[in-house]
Amino acid sequence: MIVPVKYERDRLLILDQTLLPGEERYIEARTKEDVWEAIKKLRVRGAPAIGVAAAYGLYVAVRDLKVESFADFAVRFHSIKEYIATSRPTAVNLFWALERMERRLLAMEDGLCFGPSWKQELEYIKEELLKEAEAIRREDEEACLSMGRHGLSLLKKDMGILTHCNAGTLATAKYGTCLAPIYLGQEQGYDFKVFADETRPLLQGARLTAWELSQEGVDVTLICDNMAATVMKQGKIDAVVVGCDRMAANGDGANKIGTSGVAILAKEFGIPFYMFVPTSTIDLDTPTGSEIQIEERQGEEIREMWYQKPMAPAGVKTYNPAFDVTDHKHITAVVTEKGIIYPPYEENLRKL
Ligand code: MRU
Repeated sequence: MIVPVKYERDRLLILDQTLLPGEERYIEARTKEDVWEAIKKLRVRGAPAIGVAAAYGLYVAVRDLKVESFADFAVRFHSIKEYIATSRPTAVNLFWALERMERRLLAMEDGLCFGPSWKQELEYIKEELLKEAEAIRREDEEACLSMGRHGLSLLKKDMGILTHCNAGTLATAKYGTCLAPIYLGQEQGYDFKVFADETRPLLQGARLTAWELSQEGVDVTLICDNMAATVMKQGKIDAVVVGCDRMAANGDGANKIGTSGVAILAKEFGIPFYMFVPTSTIDLDTPTGSEIQIEERQGEEIREMWYQKPMAPAGVKTYNPAFDVTDHKHITAVVTEKGIIYPPYEENLRKL
C-alpha cells in the first residue's frame, strides 16, 4: 500500500499528492522551506500525514546545524519549528508533532554532559530526534490499524458507506483513519460499496479516495458533493465514515469543508455518522469547535483550478474556507485507536 511520507537512506521523500491520480512521484524535502511548501500546497495533506512530514521535516532542517552549545541548538530548533508551524492552521497534528519533537529535545538537556564531547552529544541529539520522528510515524501506522479494527466492529459485510474528503493511507502514515476498516474488511472478504464525495474545491475525494480505494480493489463509486442526499434517500448508504483534523474537548470535530453538511443529512436519514479521530487529533485545550481556527484558502481554487479555462467571472469575490466543524450532536460515535467513544463526549474524551 502506498505511503505519503517516507524516510529512506537519509532522504525525506514526500509523495506529491497534487499530481495524483495521474502521476505517482515522490519529491525530496531537504530544507525547512521545502517542508513548509509541501504542506502549504497540499503535496502532503491529511492531519496525521502532515504531522509525520513536519516531524521528519524538523529533523531534516536541523540535522546539518553546526552550533557550539545546547542552548544555541535549542534556539535554532525552536525558530525552525515555529516556521514550519505557520504552514497550515487547522490540523492539530501539525502542532502536536512539532511540540512532541521539541519536548524530546528539551528532555535530553539534563542527560547530557557538556564539555569536550559536545560534538558527540550533538550527534546523539540529532539521532534521538530522528528516532522521535520515526516513532511518530510508526505510532500513527499502529493507531490506524487499531482504528481499523474498532471501526470494522461497527460495520456489516455488505454495507454501503459514504465518505468525504480523503482519510485514507494518503492522509496518514499508512492505512488511513476512516478507510482503515474498509481495507481490513476487504482483506476479510467483506463486500462494502463505498461512495466517495468528490469534495470540492480540491477534489480529495475524486483524486485521492477514489484512486487509493480502486488501487486496493475496493468497490468505489464517485459522486459529486451535492448527490449525498440522493444516495442516502435511495437507501444506498448504511454508514458515513470521515476523518478529523482537530476535535475539540466537547467533541466538535473540524474536518474538510462539507463534512458538517453530510453529518446533518445523515441525521435526517437516520444513518450513523462515525468520525475517526486518533488521539493525536484530539485537542483538549480547545473547548469547542468555535475556537478552532479554520484555514481560508485562495479563491483561484474555486474559480479556475481543475478547469481548462476559468469557470467564474475574473475577479469575482470568493469565500473558500477549507474546513468546517461538525457539531458533536451529529456524531454517532468517535473511533479512536484506544476504542470507540459515545456521548457525552466532553466527559468521555477526557477519560480517554
Ligand atoms: O486539506 P486536507 O486535504 O489536508 O484535508 C484533509 C481532511 O480534511 C481529512 O479528512 C482529515 O485530515 C483527516 S485525515 C485522516
